[in-house]
Amino acid sequence: MSKTVKLIHDNKEYELPVVTASTGEKAIDISTLLNKTGFITLDVGYANTGSCTSTITYMDGEKGILRYRGYPIEELAKNCNFVEVAFLLTNGHLPNEQERRRFSVQLNDHSLVHEDMRRFFDSFPHGAHPMGILASMVTAMRSFYPERYLEEEEISISTTRLISKVRTMAAMSYRISRGQNIVYPRPDLCYCGNFLNMMFDTPVKPYEIDPDIVRAVNIFWVLHADHEQNCSTSAVRMVGSARVNLYAAISAGISALWGPLHGGANQAVIEMLEEIHKTGESPKLYVNRAKDKNSTYRLMGFGHRVYKTYDPRAKIIKNMCHTLLKKLNRTDPLLDIAYEIEELVSKDDYFVSRNLYPNVDFYSGIILRAIGIPTNMFPVMFAIGRLPGWISQWREDSEDPNWRICRPRQIYLGDVEKKFIPINERG
Ligand code: CMC
Repeated sequence: MSKTVKLIHDNKEYELPVVTASTGEKAIDISTLLNKTGFITLDVGYANTGSCTSTITYMDGEKGILRYRGYPIEELAKNCNFVEVAFLLTNGHLPNEQERRRFSVQLNDHSLVHEDMRRFFDSFPHGAHPMGILASMVTAMRSFYPERYLEEEEISISTTRLISKVRTMAAMSYRISRGQNIVYPRPDLCYCGNFLNMMFDTPVKPYEIDPDIVRAVNIFWVLHADHEQNCSTSAVRMVGSARVNLYAAISAGISALWGPLHGGANQAVIEMLEEIHKTGESPKLYVNRAKDKNSTYRLMGFGHRVYKTYDPRAKIIKNMCHTLLKKLNRTDPLLDIAYEIEELVSKDDYFVSRNLYPNVDFYSGIILRAIGIPTNMFPVMFAIGRLPGWISQWREDSEDPNWRICRPRQIYLGDVEKKFIPINERG
């Protein structure tokens, strides 16, 4: 197989190098294209653009494969908890027993939020979206913990601090939004158990930690931990490429994730299912509306830029949804509506011909509802899960010897040059 490709234009030939992934996929390295040919490339939405090389996450959208650091997502979801997967992503290898214990102790050591930061929470208006609060608080962390990231140890402490404190801050924002006192983290509880306790414990009704719920939250977070160069991760890398601090880069990721086409989709799915349930309309009506080319309406929780088959995360989440509701002895009418929509879509040529399958967000909201997480906290749950991925991608970018600030080009289609007209002469 040739190690270059030839570009022929106006009878001139240009050779461009081919880069081969460890899994065999090929890319044309166009970094010299402009200098050699005077051309740039145009790729709206970066659908065909590799923005970096990476050793963190592999996905094959045709076969429905997702692996973190080489480990299949199915095995990680079955055998690891979120803390182990966070260690894997941020350190590059699965922890041994000693590393796992040390990481858990460190997460406990960093779990408290500076008391002065608490006052920030009180200043947000009632009803403020928790994603906006979280993004602001993460940026504010830089003022309280101003490291310079020169030493490995500092990066490691910032990583642990973020993974631990974001969980505490997420629970705090929920409690404060409900006018309740905050619950402090408890060192005797695991990462997920601690989060659930900070969310739901009250003096009137102490929260009882259910191992099935802890397992479900662990799996949810493991499945969201990384997803290569998606919108929010690209935001983290792009903002990080200006060499901003880690907190600012992560805050950019949180803001990008908030969008309903990305991490906000889990909230949008439940809102869609609730609307169908409340109005008593037929799910078919919504499926048809999503097919209507005169409407911008989309079926939330369906479709993916990379997966052209069933999202492997959605498969696990769908099974877990069924198992958890059964274990908790619950039913949810929204699950029946979701099943009906999936059934309709699977037989509809519009969706089949476009390879539109349920993505991770389609069933995940039903699990979060069963646990008692309010709908506006769903994207926050996604953000807590995605944090180790963002951090490891930021780190990989900062350590890349070929690093350059992200600065795409454009094709200008506006007026070429206009003569300036003074204000009194303008019509
Ligand atoms: N409902 C109806 N039609 C759809 C949908 C949908 N959910 N998704 C894509 N399409 C159609 C789209 O209209 C287009 O049709 P045509 O070829 O006739 O113009 C075709 O499928 C290709 O869509 P696209 O917009 O070019 O695909 P994209 O790769 O740019 O967008 C997406 C991917 C996820 C933003 C999109 O599928 C979507 O908006 N889905 C709904 C939102 C959602 O569930 N987001 C969560 C994504 S998974 C979590 C994460 O990792 O972020």
